[in-house]
Amino acid sequence: MRPQLLDSSRVVFDFVRDVQFAGKKVGVVPTMGALHAGHLSLARAARATCDIVVVTIFVNPTQFAPHEDLSRYPRTLEQDIELLAGEKVDVVFAPDSAEIYPPGFSTYVQPGSVSESWEGQYRPGHFRGVTTVVLKLFQMVPAQTAVFGRKDYQQAQVIQQMVRDLNLPVAIQVEETVRDSDGLALSSRNRYLTPEQRSRALAIPAAWQHVQREFNHGITDTSILESEMRQILEDRQVDRIDYAACVHPETLERVSIAAPNTVVLLAAHVGTTRLIDNATIGNATP
Ligand code: PAJ
Repeated sequence: MRPQLLDSSRVVFDFVRDVQFAGKKVGVVPTMGALHAGHLSLARAARATCDIVVVTIFVNPTQFAPHEDLSRYPRTLEQDIELLAGEKVDVVFAPDSAEIYPPGFSTYVQPGSVSESWEGQYRPGHFRGVTTVVLKLFQMVPAQTAVFGRKDYQQAQVIQQMVRDLNLPVAIQVEETVRDSDGLALSSRNRYLTPEQRSRALAIPAAWQHVQREFNHGITDTSILESEMRQILEDRQVDRIDYAACVHPETLERVSIAAPNTVVLLAAHVGTTRLIDNATIGNATP
């Protein structure tokens, strides 16, 4: 069955309230479309615990900086709906820009310290756009559960902080990163990569996998681990490294000594494409 396609916030809100009134549990999966198996895994996770699954598709202009890829961001709505039909998603909410940001829109959510480092530093204003749109989507689709991917580790932390700080009545579920068989994390932006760039992009999973092995061999000094990551990224010729850091899993502050739950965060450019990835240092696969 094809999911029902809605573009009105009023209609989707009434739908969610009606099914909740009938005793059903609703799960929402916010996305920007151009769906791949990573997004579909979130829909599947929602399907496993909720009666009604709503996937939102909205390429949110406020989270793109002026020089970023908003205009070239892939838009594949028809194909997205087909893929979501395969996951038995009930509703796709795909509003247009004016539905989310009507003329005169002027109120934003300002996220706190967990948003300031890493992505926040390289993409100023990005998380303000994310928290603003996610709060609005939660208002329009007042689901009991919302599912996010660990692929965007900092985003998941920023959203969980917002939910705590603003007492939002939604449970946040974070699902593992889905990867291609070669280890590259699935991303809507991977489709920009040429085959040659894609093979250089594999430096990113190679870098954190190396650090996991080093940690398992007893190396915990993060200045050593970070410089080894940089070396791998440089040797394998990524075009620019934004960061490759060992951080606390919740505060995202740099740590100087790694522990099993330390998170490795990476962002690098390959060609004109910017890629991010992360892993928990103690979770090496044998
Ligand atoms: P988007 O990049 O489309 O991602 C939507 C959701 O899919 C996010 O929770 C993201 O972490 C998750 N995701 C992406 N790649 C994944 C992968 N390989 N494995 C598992 N999950 C993956 O993130 C956004 O959109 C936007 O910022 C949004 C939250 C929708 C706000 O506009």
